[in-house]
Amino acid sequence: MIVDIAVTESVAVLTIDHPPVNMGNTAMRTALADALDSVATRDGLTGVVLASAGTHFYAGSDISEFDRPMQAPQLPDVISRIENLDIPVVAALTGLALGGGLELALGCDLRVGDPTTVVGFPEVTLGILPGAGGTVRTARLVGVPSAIDLVASARRVTAEEAHALGLLDEVVPGHALLARAVERAAALGTKNRLVDRPAPESDEAAVAAARAAVSKRARPNVLAAVDMVCAGAALDGKDALRRERALFDELRVTDEASNLRYLFFAKRSATKAVRPRTPAPAIATIGIAGAGTMGASLARAFSARGYEVIVFDSNRAALERLADRDGIATTASGAGLGRADVIVDAVFEDMDVKKSLLRDVEPHLRDTAVIVSNTSYLDLNEMASALTVPERFAGLHFFNPPDRNPLVEIIRTTTTDDRTLAVLSALATRLEKTPIPAGIGDGFVANRVYADYRMQAEFLVEDGASPAEVDAALTDLGFAIGPFAVADMSGLDIAWARRKRLADTRDPRQRYVHIADRLCEAGRLGKKTGAGWYDYPDGAKRGVVDPRVDAIIEKARADAGVTARTVPGDEIRDRVLASMVCAAAALVETGVAERASDIDVALTEGFTFPARLGGPVRALARRNRDEVVSALAAAYRSCPVSFAIAEPAAAGEVPEAIEKILEAVR
Ligand code: 3HC
Repeated sequence: MIVDIAVTESVAVLTIDHPPVNMGNTAMRTALADALDSVATRDGLTGVVLASAGTHFYAGSDISEFDRPMQAPQLPDVISRIENLDIPVVAALTGLALGGGLELALGCDLRVGDPTTVVGFPEVTLGILPGAGGTVRTARLVGVPSAIDLVASARRVTAEEAHALGLLDEVVPGHALLARAVERAAALGTKNRLVDRPAPESDEAAVAAARAAVSKRARPNVLAAVDMVCAGAALDGKDALRRERALFDELRVTDEASNLRYLFFAKRSATKAVRPRTPAPAIATIGIAGAGTMGASLARAFSARGYEVIVFDSNRAALERLADRDGIATTASGAGLGRADVIVDAVFEDMDVKKSLLRDVEPHLRDTAVIVSNTSYLDLNEMASALTVPERFAGLHFFNPPDRNPLVEIIRTTTTDDRTLAVLSALATRLEKTPIPAGIGDGFVANRVYADYRMQAEFLVEDGASPAEVDAALTDLGFAIGPFAVADMSGLDIAWARRKRLADTRDPRQRYVHIADRLCEAGRLGKKTGAGWYDYPDGAKRGVVDPRVDAIIEKARADAGVTARTVPGDEIRDRVLASMVCAAAALVETGVAERASDIDVALTEGFTFPARLGGPVRALARRNRDEVVSALAAAYRSCPVSFAIAEPAAAGEVPEAIEKILEAVR
C-alpha cells in the first residue's frame, strides 16, 4: 500500500510510503490520487493531513520517467485534487521535500515541518524547471525575489530558513509533527489556495538584484525558469500553471535534460560501486603528511568537515605557514601522527620520497590506522610494498583545488582490504565528494583521459591552430576554460617533469610535440612566472597572446616538418572529443575504469567538461555513426601510435572497444 488512509476524529491522515526516498512515479501518484478521491467522498471530515512514512516527505519525481511520455495522473492533476477538496489539507514535512515534493506541499493549505526538513528545487540541475506549480506558487507565497533565488540556485534550504522565508508555517519537534499537523488541519476551517492569491507586490530593485545574481551565462533552462517566475507572478494563477507545465514539457525532452539525467544516474552508479561491504569505523583524526600546497589545501578540506587535522612535515618553515590556521595542528615528527585514524600522503610526487615516508611513519601508527596516498601517477602497488601491513593502504586521489573540486578517485591496490575501502568511501561521503572507482594505471582514470585531451590540444597547435583558437573552440563547446589557459594556471612544470620521467619508456614512433618543453626551458612555467602559453603582464588575470610564443610554435612546426594550416573549430572539438573517447575505451578495456559512465562523471565533475553534453563518451555516443567514424579517424590520423585503438575508423568502421562504451552510455 503506497498511500495509507487513517481517520483520526474528523481528520484523514494520508501517509505516503514509497521507499527508499518517497519518490513520485506513476504508481505513487495513482495511489495518492485515489486516496484523495476517496477522501473527497467521505462525510464528516474537516481536514486532511498529507504525511510520510520513512525518512523523507517526498524527494521529488522519478527522474527516469522523464525519458518517456508521462503517464496520467501527472503531479499537477494530483495537486489539483488537493486544491479542489472542500476541506483544508495540511502537509506534515520531514526530511527532504525536493522538486515535486515541495510542489506537492505548496499545493496544500498549510505546511508544518520538523527540524530535519529540507526543501528545495533541484530541477534546474536536471535541465528542466519546476513543472508542477513550483515557480507559480512559490512566488505567491514568498515573493518574486526569493522565488527567483530558490528556483535558479537549486539550493537546499533548512527548516529554519524555510520557516523564516514563509515556505513553512510552523516548525515543531519531530515527535510532535503529526499531532500538530492534525490539530492544525482540524482547526483551519477554510481553504488557502496559493494559486488563487496574487503574488505580493515586489520591490523592483529586489527583483532586479535577484535576476542579476543569476549568471547571464547560466544554462537556457535556468534563464527560462527565472523568466517564468516573473511572468507567472503577473499572470492569472491557472494560466501561469499552464504556461509553466508547457515549458517543463518542452525542456524535459531536450538533449541537455536527457544528458543531465544520465549524469545523475551515472554518479549514483559510481557511488554504489565504491559503497563498502563492511561498515566503516568511526574516523575523527586525520594526519596529513606534507605541508605543501596540496597538503595545506587537503588539511583545510578535512578541517572544514569537522575532522581534527594534524599536518606533518619535517620542513618547519612550511609548517609555520599553516600553524594555528583553521584549527589545524602541526608536527615536525612522524610520531605526532600516532593519534591519527587516517594518514593522507601528500608529500612530493616521487616514489623514493613516498616509500621512505611510509617506512618512517608506519611504526608510529595505531594498528587500526588507514594510510591513503594522494599520488596522481605513481604505482600504488609499489608504494604498498614499503609497508609491513599493506592491507591498510589505498589511493585516494583528489583534484585541484581539493577543497573545491568535487571529484575523488578511490583506488584499490592488490592488497587493500575491505575495511580500508570502507574508510575511504566514508571519507568521500563526509567530504561531500563525488567518488569514482579507479584501478592502477598511469594517471588512473581522470588524469589519463585529461592527458590525451591535452596531448590532442598540442597536436592541433602543431598542425596550425593557435593556443587561443584551441581554447576558444573548447570554451565554445562549454568548458569553463580552455586547456592552455588551464595549463598556465596550474603550472607547466609538473607535466614537464612527468614527460622527462616517461622519456625513456616513450614509444619513439609516438608523435611528440616539443612546444611545451621549449616554453619551460624559456622559464615560462605558467601564470606563477608571469608567462606560459600566454603572457600575464603586471599579474593580469587573463593571459594575452605573446608573439614570442608564436615564434616558439613556428620553430617547433618547422623542426617537425609540419606546414601550418587553418584548423576549423569543429575539427578541434571533434579531435579532442575522439581522443578522450579513445582513452576511455582503453581504460575500460584494461579494467582501470569500471564503467564508461565513470569517465563521464570524472570529466564533468573534475575537469569542467560541459555537463549539458553528459561527458565525453556520452557526447560522442549521441552523434550519428558517420560523425563518430570521422571524428575517430581524425584522432587516429593525428597520431596513429597514441590512438591506435581508433585504427578501424580510418577504414570506415567504429572500433569494437569504442562501440562497446558508446553503446553503454546511449
Ligand atoms: N528519480 C529516480 N530515482 C531516484 C530519485 C529520483 N528523483 N531520487 C533518488 N533516486 C534513487 C537513486 O537512484 C537510488 O536508487 P538505487 O539505490 O537503485 O541506486 C535510490 O533512489 C536512493 O537514492 P540515493 O542513493 O541517491 O540516496 P541518498 O540518500 O544518497 O540521496 C536524495 C537521496 C538526496 C533524494 C538523492 O537521491 C537525490 O538528490 N535525488 C534527486 C532529487 C531530485 O532531484 N528531485 C527532483 C526531481 S525533478 C521533479 O521533481 C520535477 C517536478 O518539478 C515535476
